[in-house]
Amino acid sequence: MNDLHNGGPVVALVPAAGRGVRLGESMPKAFVAVGGISMVRLAVDGLIASRAVDRVVVMVPAEFVESAVALLPPSDSVRVVIGGAERTDSVRAGIDAAPDASYFLVHDAARALTPPELIARVAAELRAGHRAVVPALPVTDTIKSVDAHGGVTGTPDRAGLRAIQTPQGFAADLLRAAYATDVHATDDAGLVELLGTQVRTIPGDPLAFKITTPLDLLLAHAVLEGMDARTS
Ligand code: CTP
Ligand code: MG
Repeated sequence: MNDLHNGGPVVALVPAAGRGVRLGESMPKAFVAVGGISMVRLAVDGLIASRAVDRVVVMVPAEFVESAVALLPPSDSVRVVIGGAERTDSVRAGIDAAPDASYFLVHDAARALTPPELIARVAAELRAGHRAVVPALPVTDTIKSVDAHGGVTGTPDRAGLRAIQTPQGFAADLLRAAYATDVHATDDAGLVELLGTQVRTIPGDPLAFKITTPLDLLLAHAVLEGMDARTS
């Protein structure tokens, strides 16, 4: 799959073991279809199409292993393992399933429409020697900090803020070290930051948005329909 063989294998870890509570469908979010194809399949297809990934490990709920295997491309390069209760538990399961990885790309199944080109750019930055790389977009809303009662406590300068996407890329030893600690962060790069490692941002892509709510799902459907209309 990978065009750039120097430096050891790039393994993509795809957390797909969440329940999708905010989406509110009857099945876990990664198994919900967009344009007739499950999000987890779309995400894996995007990783393969990037030509920057050697292997893919997908983490799913225990009772969905068989359906995931049936949904995903039949390939020795794609493996399904059981995820965990929290996203970090799922990523840890993926790390443990790929002891030979030189680089990891951690990529949410819920970012199903991520362009392969963005995935390839993250991998290229890793190959160029950056040890932690995340896609970032400027923030368009004003962000405020608030106290427990909703009172505003501050307004950070928006120019210095970014919304972070996946895939997040790491030198494998760095991500393993981050997950060996017992600290908590809302994303993988957050764990790496706590080790004191500089995380590099590269320009993200609006299409890498996370499908979280019913409105996001509607948007994803509309995006795919728009793409089909242009290519047919
Ligand atoms: N994820 C995971 N294991 C978990 C929780 C989340 O692998 N225990 C995955 C999800 O499947 C998703 C990604 O992490 O692809 C981002 O999480 P999120 O968008 O929060 O998805 P869910 O946890 O499924 O959604 P919700 O929080 O609304 O229940
Ligand atoms: Mg969640």
